Amino acid sequence: MPAKQTQLEGEVYYPSQEVIQQAVLKDWDELAQFAERDLEGFWEREAEQLVWFKRWDKVLDASQAPFYKWFVGGKVNIAYNAVDRHLLTFRKNKLALIWEAEDGKSERTFSYYALNREVNRMANIIKSMGVGKGDRVTIYMGRIPEIVFAMLACAKIGAIHSVVFGGFSVDALQGRIADSESKLVITCDGAYQNGKLVELKRIVDEALKHCPTVENVIVVRRTGHEVPMESMRDHWYHDMCALPIANGKCPTEEMDAEDPLFILYTSGSTGKPKAILHTHGGYMVGTYATLKYVFDINDEDRFWCTADPGWITGHSYLVYGPLVNGATVFMFEGGPAYPYPNRWWQLIERFGITIFYTAPTAIRGLMRFGEAWPNKHDLSSLRLLGTVGEPINPEAWKWFYRVIGKERCPIMDTWWQTETGAFMITPTPVVPLKPGSGTRPFFGQVAEIVDEHGNPVPDGSEGYLVLTRPWPSMLRTIYKDPERYISQYWSKYPGKYMTGDSARRDKDGYFWIIGRVDDVIKVSGHRLGTAEIESALITHPAVAESAAIGLPHEIKGQAIHCFVQLKPGFAPSEELSEELRQHVARHLGPIARPEEVRFIDKLPKTRSGKIMRRVLKARAQGLPEGDLSTLEE
Ligand code: WTA
Repeated sequence: MPAKQTQLEGEVYYPSQEVIQQAVLKDWDELAQFAERDLEGFWEREAEQLVWFKRWDKVLDASQAPFYKWFVGGKVNIAYNAVDRHLLTFRKNKLALIWEAEDGKSERTFSYYALNREVNRMANIIKSMGVGKGDRVTIYMGRIPEIVFAMLACAKIGAIHSVVFGGFSVDALQGRIADSESKLVITCDGAYQNGKLVELKRIVDEALKHCPTVENVIVVRRTGHEVPMESMRDHWYHDMCALPIANGKCPTEEMDAEDPLFILYTSGSTGKPKAILHTHGGYMVGTYATLKYVFDINDEDRFWCTADPGWITGHSYLVYGPLVNGATVFMFEGGPAYPYPNRWWQLIERFGITIFYTAPTAIRGLMRFGEAWPNKHDLSSLRLLGTVGEPINPEAWKWFYRVIGKERCPIMDTWWQTETGAFMITPTPVVPLKPGSGTRPFFGQVAEIVDEHGNPVPDGSEGYLVLTRPWPSMLRTIYKDPERYISQYWSKYPGKYMTGDSARRDKDGYFWIIGRVDDVIKVSGHRLGTAEIESALITHPAVAESAAIGLPHEIKGQAIHCFVQLKPGFAPSEELSEELRQHVARHLGPIARPEEVRFIDKLPKTRSGKIMRRVLKARAQGLPEGDLSTLEE
């Protein structure tokens, strides 16, 4: 039975009979109703599809909410489910990972059998460095297969990985290594980005000047250029692989379902980035089930998620979700338009990609080059498309649907966050789509739009998006800061999870995300905090004070604009503005380079000294400045 095709409001794209016939889940309503009636029953059924060393005693323990626990008493390891369990099936010889180099000159493939060998090898090596259960390992690499091995190897031995995006630079890396108190850093000599070399190892060396907890650094060779190696501390991965300790099976640690799997730093409102903590059990079940139902994944598929493993999308849907599902994952080292704007389309054709999951910003960027580029390629292998990271404007949605999906492939617009671990508001292939809406909450979830006081607002009105039911892949806490976990997410509307987004719901119950209501800026789908940018600026000798805001940008979604108050003795100039932009890029990373740095005599502040970014934003866009009663004289 297809999802009920009642008449919906607005512009609606109904699924074709072909899509419905192929979908693993044909009756959306039935499953949604079951999950609504029996939340624990729904998730228990999903957990039963996976391998547990010991079954859980209780599906959900809410006795210490908001510190929810899932699959309590269960023993499990996500790496076992991502790799080992497939070796007992026909998937042993199935491709787990296909990788293509940015320059197209090399391609590497790994069956599940081969992946298992690689993970064991990396795990043996990590273990030999005295890293064990509960220890933190920072991973800072480009998009190469070894980053996948490193993540799975940590999981296998129970170490907690903290992946730092390779586009971040010294300050960001150092802060994250120091906060996590990592014992080990895994990196590579360098990475390629649009043909240019990024010297990752040198950035690590710089960062480690202030990170005393790090005992060892493993360096994977990718570019082959000369890098300094500190004896005793730095080890080439290929040298370690040649040692006897690298051989043989590494035992898989039996973890409690609630044991930490990883931390991932993300920007929130004010202050330092927060280390979001996810666990082995719940996160595994959440990523498994969401990917299965939403991307309808099966053994014939080749799934390509263009995200970097340094972000949550890479964790959940490039590494863990697809591998736990036993899928074939495609991973590409480079970006969308290098050397030419048909790079991605060429790869879809060459590798027969069936499911393609990317970000609106990439679609907008590629749209700009025109249809001739994708039209050069046979994209008929595609059957499903997806987007994530920011709202997709209907124009980009329609282009993606028509030019890439040839009006055959439904687009899964998935709304979720680092904190949610997995999709929260999303269609499945049988759900009628409206361009720009992520449709409805995933099974078992309830979303509400509320006002300042937590009261539901009428359909059609804008308000704060909150989630009212716990889910297995929810963050468990902020690492080392449980109080901040409560204050950040659960204290404004007690019992409800505050997302930090504003949204509205239409008459059909479809959700339309508007954007962040806090100090988070989404630049090309990358999540950055105003505080991080401002603290990079303040390290420049000319800067007395600064404020960063996000303003709409045609391709990036949002772009960073900074307002700087100079110290006495410094005068505004074009050169200084450019220097400050570069300063931020050098310290925080090229992704954080401000679009523009403007000089201002005095930043608008409240009487209590808080910068009123809202006022700056309104001024910059020539919009009404709103209530100014709290503005200082
Ligand atoms: C935004 C990324 C609209 C949103 C997985 C959220 C989206 C933030 C969508 C989380 C979407 C993500 N439509 N907005 N489909 N997906 N967002 O932690 O503002 O990097 O709060 O996780 O991205 O960003 P994060």
